[in-house]
Amino acid sequence: MFLNQALSLGQKLKSYLVIKVKNATVILLSLLFLICTLTSSVQVKNNHTGILSVIQNLLKTHKLAAIDSSFIKKNLADNSSAPIIALGNKLFYDSLLSKNKNISCGSCHIPKKGFSNNVNLGTGTHGTTLSRNVPHLYNLALGKTFFWDGRATTLEEQLDMVITSKDELDMNYKELVVRLQSDSIYSSLFQKNFPEEGITKKTIKKAIISYEKTLVASDSKFDKFINGDTIVFNEQEKNGFLLFTGKANCIACHKGANLTDNLFHNVGVKTTDVGRMKIDKVGMSKEFESTPYPFFSTFKAFKTPSLRNIKLTGPYFHDGSKASIKEVIKFYNKGGENTDLTGLAKEIVPLNLTEEEIDHLEAFLNTFTSNSTNY
Ligand code: HEC
Ligand code: HEC
Repeated sequence: MFLNQALSLGQKLKSYLVIKVKNATVILLSLLFLICTLTSSVQVKNNHTGILSVIQNLLKTHKLAAIDSSFIKKNLADNSSAPIIALGNKLFYDSLLSKNKNISCGSCHIPKKGFSNNVNLGTGTHGTTLSRNVPHLYNLALGKTFFWDGRATTLEEQLDMVITSKDELDMNYKELVVRLQSDSIYSSLFQKNFPEEGITKKTIKKAIISYEKTLVASDSKFDKFINGDTIVFNEQEKNGFLLFTGKANCIACHKGANLTDNLFHNVGVKTTDVGRMKIDKVGMSKEFESTPYPFFSTFKAFKTPSLRNIKLTGPYFHDGSKASIKEVIKFYNKGGENTDLTGLAKEIVPLNLTEEEIDHLEAFLNTFTSNSTNY
């Protein structure tokens, strides 16, 4: 009897101890977990502040800046009203603007294709294939020159060139005014918006350019990041950002809010197009040809394109020779593709990026895609 009691007491004691030990283990493990979480959150915080200070520095040195939707209002030509923009929108997509009434601005600059056309070259009103790739039209208000070689310095000049070019619309304003006057809808729209002037070269241009300036790429993941919201980037995108601004040195030319320095460079595209040199007339003569890297030469140099919405605007380069962003990065990784190094920008050198780094850089370039739906 006594033995039985003693045994059951022993059992109770044992199970009590087991529970105790179990509890102690649970408590110990929880403590350990808490310590780990605390330290790692400190690390994350440090990492976060680290990235923030990198951004702060870059903001200063490369004028990187976010673009938000208020940008449109700020940059519209002398406060164009919504009805004028709507009129410009109508003109932009109207084939009355071309000699053979067969193409409009929107035939080459297609909104769903990033205002480019996804084939490497455009076709004009007479079926002529253009010699250069159709560029996108985002954030034109930030542009300093227009066309791949920057031969137009204002949007007004650019518009005159595209309307009258034999290879593109082959129109003249006189004929265009007559065409629009004989259209009752246009007559009344111009009457309403420009009661004193009516349909003139000036009012046609004002409407189209007002519309063009509303084509804004803003509010992307990149803009959020630049504004200090660094957690929007995953690890790949963050690393891509560090490569873009560091090892790959893309930032040397793709800088500022629009990711372009608005200058001209020869990046080593294999091409017969002399680019900006035709405009500058610098380096045209024989004496410059023998210089290996004439810094003043703009031989085969083209305007640095804005990388805003780059995911949508392929194919890439002035000749549309690269079909994907990955191909472009691989091109830079080789230090360009032209065997003739005359005029090659000094930044264009082999980058030694690994396959993984190429993927990360691509992931970062994709963060330039706009979330805004204003076009
Ligand atoms: C046949 C195709 C085609 C049509 C039609 C066309 N464009 Fe273009 N556009 C191009 C090409 C190609 C370029 C680049 C040409 C170059 O750089 O030499 C260009 C360049 C531009 C640029 C300069 C962009 C930049 O960043 O430098 C603007 C702005 C523009 N076009 C607006 C228009 C407008 C407005 C219309 C209608 C009035 C129009 N385009 C009609 C093919 C076209
Ligand atoms: C020396 C200045 C310079 C550097 C450095 C540079 N770029 Fe460019 N980038 C340009 C110019 C100029 C073009 C247009 C070249 C042409 O069409 O011949 C261009 C074109 C591009 C295009 C095609 C855009 C389009 O609309 O067709 C992409 C994408 C691009 N660069 C990404 C990069 C990346 C990524 C890096 C870094 C690995 C980089 N660039 C480094 C100047 C530069």
